[in-house]
Amino acid sequence: MVDRIRTAIIPAAGLGTRFLPVTRAVPKVLLPVLDTPLIHFSVQEAADAGIEKAVLVISPGDEAVAGYFSPQPELEKALRERGNEAERARQREISSLIDVSHVVQEEALGLGHAVLMGRDRVGDETFAVFLPDDLIWSDRPAISQLIDVWRRFGGSVIAAKRVPQAAVEALGIIAGEPVDDRTWRVTGLVEKPRLAEAPSNLAIIGRYVLSPSVFAHLAEGKPGAGGEIQLTDAVAATLGDEPVHACIFEGDHIDAGTPAGMLAAANYLARRDPELHGLARQALEATE
Ligand code: G1P
Repeated sequence: MVDRIRTAIIPAAGLGTRFLPVTRAVPKVLLPVLDTPLIHFSVQEAADAGIEKAVLVISPGDEAVAGYFSPQPELEKALRERGNEAERARQREISSLIDVSHVVQEEALGLGHAVLMGRDRVGDETFAVFLPDDLIWSDRPAISQLIDVWRRFGGSVIAAKRVPQAAVEALGIIAGEPVDDRTWRVTGLVEKPRLAEAPSNLAIIGRYVLSPSVFAHLAEGKPGAGGEIQLTDAVAATLGDEPVHACIFEGDHIDAGTPAGMLAAANYLARRDPELHGLARQALEATE
């Protein structure tokens, strides 16, 4: 049995309606947190965790998303000629992080359908899924924390976090019981429940380690919440056959899938860079 996770599927399609009008021309996952596009953070985390391949699932016409990870010899040449070796090395690293490929999701039939598009690239082994809106900063990559749980229990593992009541109806919610401080044995999963019906306030966050049997359930194509093929439902369908655990990861999580979340993420990064933070403060003060 392979005891490593070799492939990550990264759903990066969608209309990006929360970011209109910019998403008329730019795919949401290329929107930047300061100077770095959303998609970069997921691919970087996969590489940091030792995952070998990232399969980006993109909308038709969004090849620029995969292009971001392609080598840019002209750019590197120009940076070298200007003597900017540090920047050249930083740019080179982006194209050598990990083996990045893409598949096109022709129809927007839901997150579960997007993940199914990566099936051929994964084969019959356990794989990772990253949702690029969910940014997580931690000493040990969040996905590595999930992989640790998978090595203990097998089956599938999902990232989890306690959320305020106001957030429950917008997320996947977990039923289960604690195994230890940071691990739950999952007994049920429900996508975007009504608050009154939610089994807990423990929500699914966008990192998963999934058994390949999830693909078989996705392939049944049963629509769930919102009429979409839901990843949550396919993971729930494996319960009974295989264990599912939730990993309450350590780290700072921001959902950058809205303009407010994106602003919070930019602020978070700026706070970690005292020079940038100072300059931004000066620029703001100049408007007062
Ligand atoms: C998706 C999942 C949901 C999860 C969320 C985390 O929802 O379906 O279970 O809680 O990501 O970000 P979406 O944000 O695509 O509506």
